[in-house]
Amino acid sequence: MDTPAEPFYRQLPKVELHAHLNGSVSEATMEYLIARKPHLNIQHSMTAIRKGQRRTLDECFQVFKVIHQLIDTEEDLLLVTKAVIEEFAADGVRYLELRSTPREETRTGLTKRKYVETVIEAIRQCKEEGVDIEVRFLVAVDRRNGPEVAAETVKLAEDFMTSNDGVVVGLDLSGDPTVGHGKDLLPALQKAKNCGLKLALHLSEVPSQKEETELLLTIPPDRIGHGTFLHPEVGGSKCLVDKVRERNIPLELCLTSNVKGQTVESYDKHHFLYWYQLGHPCVLCTDDKGVFSTDLSQEYQLAASTFGLSQEAIWELSQQAISCSFAPDGLKKQLYERWALLRPQVLC
Ligand code: IMP
Ligand code: ZN
Repeated sequence: MDTPAEPFYRQLPKVELHAHLNGSVSEATMEYLIARKPHLNIQHSMTAIRKGQRRTLDECFQVFKVIHQLIDTEEDLLLVTKAVIEEFAADGVRYLELRSTPREETRTGLTKRKYVETVIEAIRQCKEEGVDIEVRFLVAVDRRNGPEVAAETVKLAEDFMTSNDGVVVGLDLSGDPTVGHGKDLLPALQKAKNCGLKLALHLSEVPSQKEETELLLTIPPDRIGHGTFLHPEVGGSKCLVDKVRERNIPLELCLTSNVKGQTVESYDKHHFLYWYQLGHPCVLCTDDKGVFSTDLSQEYQLAASTFGLSQEAIWELSQQAISCSFAPDGLKKQLYERWALLRPQVLC
């Protein structure tokens, strides 16, 4: 991690809604995996983007390919999922929605079903071991893999949603935004929505996606990942902004990820400000805390220092994230109560 956040941001109870599992693996876990698989000849500089470094979006997606080589067995997956959950908890995250793309690894016998089962098992073990965090899972569709795989993934998500104590709550659409078109994935996404899965879709991550975003907003999604190029100042449109506002669709905003991945020029130019000033629900998230060498406390601190937000405003942001989550009402109520209890200790 670049530099640890100040105590206020670490003590702040937080909600993380946009975290890709394999992008969230910490430096320590990565070192361990690298040492276990020396034959792969991977160095840590290939799996993380440090302070002051930036990469093109394309280079960021190459990083995931390297990480996937290191995490290709059921054992690896269980280990990294538990470690990621524990790290979020240690950073003061009290509710986490983790997302991951089910992967098949013929070499090791890992199947997509086993992949989802293993993530759920890691969540169960963390709960049993008393890790102080509530975790839910979003099954991810990688847009690169096309409509058939998307349909298969939705079916998998649907099966697990109905059979696993509410751990699987939704579906994510992610992957390289320059590959494929959302129109091909629309039927699968619509089916997911109809069967009760919540939808968190990466939209307008790059400038060329205007038409796709218009189409996918008709579903509509329950949350938007990034939405970097939605607004007119960066080539989006007022019409897109109006649609997002009318439907009150929360945005998951990941400052460091966007700056290091070069879709946003600098922190002060981040679209957080545009939406925040409109009073639109914005949730600060990490995206890939391992790859981008950050954590959620740092992201809150960065937002505060860049946009001049008071501690009170930061508290409101973290609390508002509860309402944007896919947690059931009973759990949301518990989280609000927890925030209320902690408020006098943290905000003094
Ligand atoms: P995994 O799904 O747990 O394997 O996490 C890594 C995957 O998340 C990548 O291969 C991408 O498909 C997706 N991902 C991570 N970060 C981003 C992003 O910023 N934009 C789009 N997709 C992403
Ligand atoms: Zn993402």
